[in-house]
Amino acid sequence: MERQVKRIGVLTSGGDAPGMNAAVRAVVRTAINHGIDCVGIRRGWNGLINSDFIPLDAPSVSHIINKGGTMLYTARSEEFRTAEGRAKALATCKLLGLEGIVAIGGDGTFQGALALSRQAAQAGSRLQVVGIPATIDNDIGCSHYTIGFDTACNTAVECIDKLRDTMQSHERCSVVEVMGRHAGYLALYVGISIGATAVLIPEHEVDFDRDVTEKIRRARLAGTTHYMVVVAEGAGSAFRIAERIKEETGMDPRVTVLGHIQRGGTPTARDRETASRMGYEAVMSLAQGRGNRIIATQDGRIVDLDMEEALGMVKHFQMDRYEVLESLANTRSTPL
Ligand code: F6P
Repeated sequence: MERQVKRIGVLTSGGDAPGMNAAVRAVVRTAINHGIDCVGIRRGWNGLINSDFIPLDAPSVSHIINKGGTMLYTARSEEFRTAEGRAKALATCKLLGLEGIVAIGGDGTFQGALALSRQAAQAGSRLQVVGIPATIDNDIGCSHYTIGFDTACNTAVECIDKLRDTMQSHERCSVVEVMGRHAGYLALYVGISIGATAVLIPEHEVDFDRDVTEKIRRARLAGTTHYMVVVAEGAGSAFRIAERIKEETGMDPRVTVLGHIQRGGTPTARDRETASRMGYEAVMSLAQGRGNRIIATQDGRIVDLDMEEALGMVKHFQMDRYEVLESLANTRSTPL
């Protein structure tokens, strides 16, 4: 049974992720198709605090499905962490007549969404908030997948394939740092995909001898002449790791920090398609009276979960993937 929602706002917040634009487009088009006005809130939660918005109609989101970044800009808002900041945001919602907000982002965005929904309820406001997970880190507990992860992985793989060519020619060791301050999903997925010698992630305590030196030694004994070590940002400094490899093996590794290049670029089909379905579901949740939800993927299905419960869910790191990586890094020509 559809509730009569008249106007909603959509925003992107935190680190951008390829596919955010596709999600914005889906939110706007679905809203309009259901007779709901849509307003774009710019620069994340700061836009709600500062009344920084633009009206959005169906044509205004044309030609963005294929674009990285976010047409709404993004930011991390310190002010929104305070009750005073959120009170200003609620005042903007009232002024604009917003009954729903779709917030596209990662964990920080969702903490803001939860705080806003609680404060709105206390203030007797009808405002409902729905979150869409978009972060290249893929580290949202309730969702198997987050928008942007696939594109970031493919970008990193493409760059590392190029590095491998030159490492192979010079018979060198490459230490590549990928993003992920708190999460190793990107590093592990990329590591498997490029056939890394070793991968270091924050979820797995690093024993340098076991996890790096020994793996390089084994590969060397098996006849490998170049070595690719992938390090998640949160697992230690790539430069320090390269120094230690030099100390322990005598090689002279080259360090590459891929950095923000992983956050940009044309979103892959997987990210566009997921973002489109999530944007659609977010608006349907609001239109059908299911507010304060997080849209998530679970085993390939799109579901909407109670926000409070969803944010308490923990994603258990896929250590089985780590085992796959270790097993495939073995280059012995004869069985063990
Ligand atoms: O959360 C996504 C992410 O790209 C992390 O992997 C990274 O640690 C962080 O954002 C970098 O943030 P900033 O854009 O503030 O440098």
